[in-house]
Amino acid sequence: MIKGVNMAPTKESPSLKEVFDKEVVTQKIASHKKASPLNASKSEKPLSKVSNLSSNLSEAPDANTHITVLLDEAVQALAIKPDGIYVDGTFGRGGHSKKILAALGAKGRLIAFDRDLSAIESSKAIEDARFSMVHSHFAGMQNELADLGIGKVDGILLDLGISSPQVDVAERGFSFRFDAPLDMRMDQSSGQTVADYLAIATEQHLAEVIKNYGEERFAKQIARSIIAERNDGRAITTTGQLAKVVASTVTRHEPGQNPATRTFQALRIFINQELEELSLTMPQCLALLAPQGRLAVISFHSLEDRIVKQFIRDQANRDDLPANFPVRAAELPQPKMMNVGKTIKPSAAEVKRNPRSRSAVLRVAERTQVA
Ligand SMILES: C[S@@+](CC[C@H](N)C(=O)[O-])C[C@H]1O[C@@H](n2cnc3c(N)ncnc32)[C@H](O)[C@@H]1O
Repeated sequence: MIKGVNMAPTKESPSLKEVFDKEVVTQKIASHKKASPLNASKSEKPLSKVSNLSSNLSEAPDANTHITVLLDEAVQALAIKPDGIYVDGTFGRGGHSKKILAALGAKGRLIAFDRDLSAIESSKAIEDARFSMVHSHFAGMQNELADLGIGKVDGILLDLGISSPQVDVAERGFSFRFDAPLDMRMDQSSGQTVADYLAIATEQHLAEVIKNYGEERFAKQIARSIIAERNDGRAITTTGQLAKVVASTVTRHEPGQNPATRTFQALRIFINQELEELSLTMPQCLALLAPQGRLAVISFHSLEDRIVKQFIRDQANRDDLPANFPVRAAELPQPKMMNVGKTIKPSAAEVKRNPRSRSAVLRVAERTQVA
């Protein structure tokens, strides 16, 4: 079953609110879209030529496949009960979902989410009465599950970030390896593209996005160059233009890394509100998990991992009372979650087989009985 729900605009986080007046920007985008040459060309002129900006394509064997990261480890971490109800919050190409289904019995259920329409399309290959696919951002999880009559689940998996098809299909505009319209939306059916954002961003806001989400030390200079291009009548509307402007601005970067790597990561995280999504979803996982239910989250960079680690730590710590506070142990608030084992990283063999797994970190937590 596929439940087609367009992704509602995600809620704005307090951190972004500090630097970005979204209402104003949304209005500006609406007027920009009317006049946008990118907008006009989208329907009239399909991208005819894709040029490769990099010689290193070794990580992109096939644009429509995704090699699942930590497949066995993540599914084992869920400690699947055959009759349980499980959630895969990030279906992608279904690698984890298929393994979960294989571990479930006849009465088990799996509800998968993804906000990417091509992920939804690929889920149609799974013909299994125990499986439901929902087109939604995962921060809509609790509401969507309630609509399906589900209040509690036995395990939730989040395999964060982007899938290989998203980054390997040039037209999605995620990669500096190709020259394509600068899109980067995971959900192609809603929201602003990176080109839309760059058409109206202030230099200060852009610099903060690049610094905060890309941890890029040349953020200010890059923002200045991008805005200067726009002011000179050369608005940045393609991945190739952006990669070029960044490369001409960044004077030092990690060896072997494209100078635009951090800027692309930052804009992707920002445009998809990835950190806000995660922050909104963690408390929902807590509320949804039945006692002994498991949460398994695979992160790919420290910004994500920090949110997951902090959330689990806050739930696992019984309190933040000072030491020697005069209270009986039994009176202390009891933890709602506990860590399961240490963080899990891909083996050397997995990283060799799939270099994209190299930064993955899996954290696992279990829900306790405490309401
Ligand atoms: C790393 S891939 C998952 C791959 C999957 N585990 C597999 O084995 O094929 C991440 C997927 O999560 C989706 N995604 C990322 N953030 C999302 C969000 N906030 N809501 C829904 N889907 C999201 C992306 O569209 C992408 O398809």
